[in-house]
Amino acid sequence: MKLINKKNKNYTQVFHLFTEEEWTKTSKNFNKNISTFFTGKKHEVFVNAHEEGITYFVGIGKSTLQNFEIQQVAVKFSQTQKGKVQPVPTLVIADCLNERQFEEFAKGLLIGTYNYPFEKTHAFWNAKFELHFENLSQKKLDTIGKKAEALSNGQTACQEWLNKPANLKKPDTFSLYLKNLAKKYDLKYTSFNRKKCEELGLGAYLSVNQGSAYDAAFTIIEYKTNVKNAVTFGLVGKCVLFDTGGISLKNPDNMHYMKSDMGGATAVLGTLIYAAEMQLPVNIVAILPITDNAISENAFLPSDVITAYNGKTIEVLNTDAEGRMILADGLSYMAKNFKTDFLIDLATLTGSSVRMFGDTCGALFSNNEELKNLLIKTGDKTNQRLWNLPLWDVWKDDIQSDVADIKNISMKPIGDCIIAAKFLEQFIENHPKWAHLDIAGVTFGNVGYAKEKAATGFGVQLLADLIENYH
Ligand code: BES
Ligand code: MG
Ligand code: ZN
Repeated sequence: MKLINKKNKNYTQVFHLFTEEEWTKTSKNFNKNISTFFTGKKHEVFVNAHEEGITYFVGIGKSTLQNFEIQQVAVKFSQTQKGKVQPVPTLVIADCLNERQFEEFAKGLLIGTYNYPFEKTHAFWNAKFELHFENLSQKKLDTIGKKAEALSNGQTACQEWLNKPANLKKPDTFSLYLKNLAKKYDLKYTSFNRKKCEELGLGAYLSVNQGSAYDAAFTIIEYKTNVKNAVTFGLVGKCVLFDTGGISLKNPDNMHYMKSDMGGATAVLGTLIYAAEMQLPVNIVAILPITDNAISENAFLPSDVITAYNGKTIEVLNTDAEGRMILADGLSYMAKNFKTDFLIDLATLTGSSVRMFGDTCGALFSNNEELKNLLIKTGDKTNQRLWNLPLWDVWKDDIQSDVADIKNISMKPIGDCIIAAKFLEQFIENHPKWAHLDIAGVTFGNVGYAKEKAATGFGVQLLADLIENYH
């Protein structure tokens, strides 16, 4: 897709965008019949084929709409029309869009082409597909085009890995992908196998991995900028490629959804791709503790007491609370070995957060006002919303153990997402700017491109926006 600042005389393909207000004002200039089918409402598309070519009338709704809604319109337009749209120079008439909104439109066109398995064969990804738009300078269009492509590359990679069935994403497959990705984008890639993890004392991570048929891969990926005094973001993503629950086996009814238990990791992956393609002036250290949570004769058992990387002991009372185990070591390894300004972990961590918020927002926990407010603000802006929940110390009472420093679940059926956050807090080594995002309800859900639940891409736009706009 190329964005070009010009307007020729003849186009065989035109995208004409209208708000409802604008359509009311100008509809009289168009064929009367069109008004029978088109009113400018959000998501409305009217395809008008005429002698010279084809015009897509696209409704974007009320003029008071928020920027992210333009992306939603473009995503849906792309999902429904991508098969018809031709890779030819296309005129965009959108006097209702400002620069930011046009950016959202371009992003949506690309993002909306995603389906599983992803093939970039649609018109929008074709170099011959040109969007001609007069209202913005070529320089601005170049920036928008680059951003849109970087974001779509990040988000579609995120979605693609999450959507893959369990047999196509074993730890070695995913690790190989990450290794090649690091090479492509010049990122530093480090991965600790089981032997190395044992030496390092990553006991909480290993407790989950010991039941796996696959070697451990505690993975660290670093993106570095040349810019001096840049801020450093530490990102930890839960990467359980499939969560059976382990010996505390899950009910089979919804177990297939547990291929999405790497949603934290894929959000981080998408963000890394965006940062690297945009060459953002920040540093990112990403830790992805990769494993599955399997059943085998080596699997960890309820009652096990294990020693985490930071020396704290954990009584395992439920092997299905495995996410907090691997994150514990991810967080303390990050805190002890890297100097980061912000420490953010993302995880499909609890059913509790799903029951609380459904797919409306992720649950946010933070020990820092600035970071908390920034995340909420960015979530509202990108429509990847977060809602803040407490980290009060009373929530620690129920995870006190008789045989260890802490136990991995409370025995009460109350607020497990808060319990889990409180558990993680014991492993951040007093990092002053930490946030935990429980994204279990928003990562995998109803999407426009699949019949069943599938990857939403949650987290990529949120983090990309946060990191890009932080100064
Ligand atoms: N991966 C699950 C959480 C999850 C649930 C993600 C639903 C996406 C959708 C996590 O590892 C888990 O199993 N959590 C348990 C914890 C419980 C045993 C304390 C849960 O929430 O049921
Ligand atoms: Mg589990
Ligand atoms: Zn899990």
